[in-house]
Amino acid sequence: MKKTIKPSKSTEALGKTLSFLWKIIKELFQGTVENTIPWLWCFSWLALINVFVYLDLEVMAFKWAGIEKLYEKTPEIFFIFIYLPIAALGFIVWAVKQIKIKKELARRLTNAFLSSKIKNYIGKVPNFISDYPVDEHTRKMTLTSESIPIETFKIQKKHLEAALMIYIDEFKQDIEKGITSIQYSHIPMPEIFDYNLSSVKSKCTYVAGCTRSKIISQSFKNSPHLLIGGQTGGGKSTLLRQIITSLYLNDDNAHFQLVDLKEGLEFQTFKNLKRINVVETLTDVNLALEKLDVELKDRMEKIKEEKCKDIDALIAKKLTEKESPLSKNNTQFFGRKYIVIDEAAEIFLGGGGEKLENIQKVRKAISRIARLGRACGMHLIIATQRPDVKALDPQVKANLTSIISFQMPNLASSMTILGNGKAAQIPFIPGRAILRSGNKLVDIQTPFLSIEEAEALLAPHRIEEESAATKVTKNISKVSISEAKKQKTLTFTEEESLGAAE
Ligand SMILES: Nc1ncnc2c1ncn2[C@@H]1O[C@H](COP(=O)(O)OP(=O)(O)OP(=O)(O)O)[C@@H](O)[C@H]1O
Ligand SMILES: [Mg+2]
Repeated sequence: MKKTIKPSKSTEALGKTLSFLWKIIKELFQGTVENTIPWLWCFSWLALINVFVYLDLEVMAFKWAGIEKLYEKTPEIFFIFIYLPIAALGFIVWAVKQIKIKKELARRLTNAFLSSKIKNYIGKVPNFISDYPVDEHTRKMTLTSESIPIETFKIQKKHLEAALMIYIDEFKQDIEKGITSIQYSHIPMPEIFDYNLSSVKSKCTYVAGCTRSKIISQSFKNSPHLLIGGQTGGGKSTLLRQIITSLYLNDDNAHFQLVDLKEGLEFQTFKNLKRINVVETLTDVNLALEKLDVELKDRMEKIKEEKCKDIDALIAKKLTEKESPLSKNNTQFFGRKYIVIDEAAEIFLGGGGEKLENIQKVRKAISRIARLGRACGMHLIIATQRPDVKALDPQVKANLTSIISFQMPNLASSMTILGNGKAAQIPFIPGRAILRSGNKLVDIQTPFLSIEEAEALLAPHRIEEESAATKVTKNISKVSISEAKKQKTLTFTEEESLGAAE
């Protein structure tokens, strides 16, 4: 019979000490890589100990303890076993605290997995591997998968959130490595983003939304066209309202062509306003786009004629020539133009029995703006419930460089808009969306601007009409004093808007 050799108590203690020291070194290494060590506190402690040694106070302390002779004989031993550990105490205390936090986390995780029945066929729960920050408010925890499919984690998301007191953003699994990662935060995403229009300073910039920690703005100068997708009730029209209001108020020379085929219901707020034209029938859309097509060609010709690369360069050139490009007659021509279409599928799928020939014309005009709009300062903002090839030309879609997607009903539609399944996983909270700008994806809560607030902000710009005036007076009374203040901050003088402040 084989005899198992039991390690002696001292070997066991040595093993434990070494393993603990190794854990401390690992924590310090990780803390350095992730820059999570409180450097100021740790180095302040180190400096304090050095001052103590510099003033020979340690000799007094050893004298008081009666070991000064020993200290004089073997100063190296004191240096290694007393000075170094004490001087590094700040770092050690921090590392030990991290070890404790992780131990506690591992314990809570095991309990949470057991109570939410996340275990494999032999009853084993995932093991904790690491936990590190992704950004200021988000962390990523890595666990062993233990052959538990990712769907099991997803089903138990709410249970895990409650048990661990965290907000989970996403689960990921690497089957080859056998690990599952959980991205989470201790701060919830806001469910309403109270929006202050005055936070936008630049003319062609709009606020796309806020994350847990910051406000995300986008500029039409950098990303010329925008696609907004999502199933009904997500917040597409509300976001359009906010973007149009903000662009309108921030730039006195911006012009808008709004297309609202939902019988004019969504863009009611923007009727009777200078610089905004709203069309509600396919025939009118056709006419409006024909005009825009001509304008696009005119702008292109002028830019070429003046040997400029785009409309901004042309405006800059005119300003240096002391010729104001934004004089009364050509503000429309030199200002930015936004073509906003709510529910694009209505146009592209040809509802209302419109002739195929007319639909083709509209498609072509939109396609040209998508391709050439950036240079001419003409921008497309398209909202649609279905961003597929039938409802949106692939060439147009390829040019819509920014995408904001609210919840999508299924994986296929999420793939269509974002190129991955994330839009189908967005919780159904009005205003909750994903912003894709370039290759970056950011979870956002879009700003909420109510119809009443938008109408009050736009009231000073209304074209005087008896009916419009009555409506406006009614709405002004609904608006708070703070909204009135906002209006003040937003009214640019012509001089300010003329300077190429963008
Ligand atoms: N950012 C937001 N924050 C809070 N609530 C919002 C937000 N956006 C929209 N909502 C709420 O959701 C409701 C539906 O929004 P909206 O009409 O904009 O959706 P939609 O995507 O345009 O829907 P549909 O496709 O049917 O037109 C709004 O009436 C509003 O109450
Ligand atoms: Mg809508």
